Amino acid sequence: MFYSVIRKVFFQFDPERIHEFTIKSLKGTGASPFNFLYKQSVKDKPINVMGINFPNPVGLAAGLDKNGECIDAFAAMGFGFVEVGTVTPKPQPGNDKPRIFRLPQANAVINRMGFNNKGVDYLVDQVRAAKFNGVLGINIGKNKATPEENAKDDYIHCMRKVYDFATYITVNISSPNTPGLRSLQYGEALDELLSALKAEQKVLSEKFDKYVPLAVKIAPDLNEEEVNSIADSLISNEIDGVIATNTTLSREGVEGLEHGNEQGGLSGAPVKDKSTAVIKLLAKALDNKLPIIGVGGIASSDDANEKLAAGASLVQVYTGFIYQGPELVKDIVDGL
Ligand SMILES: Cc1cc2nc3c(=O)[nH]c(=O)nc-3n(C[C@H](O)[C@H](O)[C@H](O)COP(=O)(O)O)c2cc1C
Repeated sequence: MFYSVIRKVFFQFDPERIHEFTIKSLKGTGASPFNFLYKQSVKDKPINVMGINFPNPVGLAAGLDKNGECIDAFAAMGFGFVEVGTVTPKPQPGNDKPRIFRLPQANAVINRMGFNNKGVDYLVDQVRAAKFNGVLGINIGKNKATPEENAKDDYIHCMRKVYDFATYITVNISSPNTPGLRSLQYGEALDELLSALKAEQKVLSEKFDKYVPLAVKIAPDLNEEEVNSIADSLISNEIDGVIATNTTLSREGVEGLEHGNEQGGLSGAPVKDKSTAVIKLLAKALDNKLPIIGVGGIASSDDANEKLAAGASLVQVYTGFIYQGPELVKDIVDGL
């Protein structure tokens, strides 16, 4: 009710300016008494996944809090876990603006942000300053200027920086807005990357005397053979979890709409079935050897239950949250 009024106002303005305004407001209030504006208590629905205890299975997906500036605010909204990032070794501006577009008739968003972020050192400072002691995922990527053949170095750099501060680390190889990134999802490139990251995880787990699980985030634009091959690689490299999915390059469901032809990744309702289909294929191929975190077009508890029925153990939301606000978290958890 409250958010529906705010949304009417927000949607009058440029999406990125509203995003910046929201991040600033949440950053300033997250751990203060002013968080009463969005703080809510959500039912406990505890679940253990990847060896981690989650208070409920509904998380904030990566990309909303790229720099980890609002962790306390999102925690106050009742998320069972918060994923920050994608963060890269060095700060980078991302693509030219405008680069985010609302498609309200389709409950969708198209974005081509391009990993705009303030760099991993800044993110770590933010995490250290947060009061939050719940489940924190840190999502890592590569700088645009880093050649594809050196991508591994960027992931390892970020892993080393965030290891001591993350409950789990997500390896993002599925953003459509960093040229060449998605090619890391295939064949030898994937195996090489995952085996290097697994070896680094072993080193870091000894150094810090704790095991931080690694999850890999994949695209919805994959056929059965590609999903099977990714699943084999995840299993053989003993990866701890998989996040399915990122945004889609498809424009099915937004044809003819204003902004429907913008370049970038499409999220929200139009990606829902594609994500669910990938989750189903993954579940079959993984045969419970590692857990799936389902994300893509979740806008109700029915949508979340559909992801769980397809084989996910946890879910995340982004676009649905933009359209519905914090009440969505409570609604989903209530309906699970
Ligand atoms: C504006 C925007 C920025 C995003 N940035 C990231 C990102 O930095 N890293 C990432 O892994 N996913 C990113 N995503 C993808 C979301 O985390 C999510 O996987 C995708 O949008 C599908 O979920 P949804 O339909 O609930 O939005 C972004 C999505 C949007 C809409």
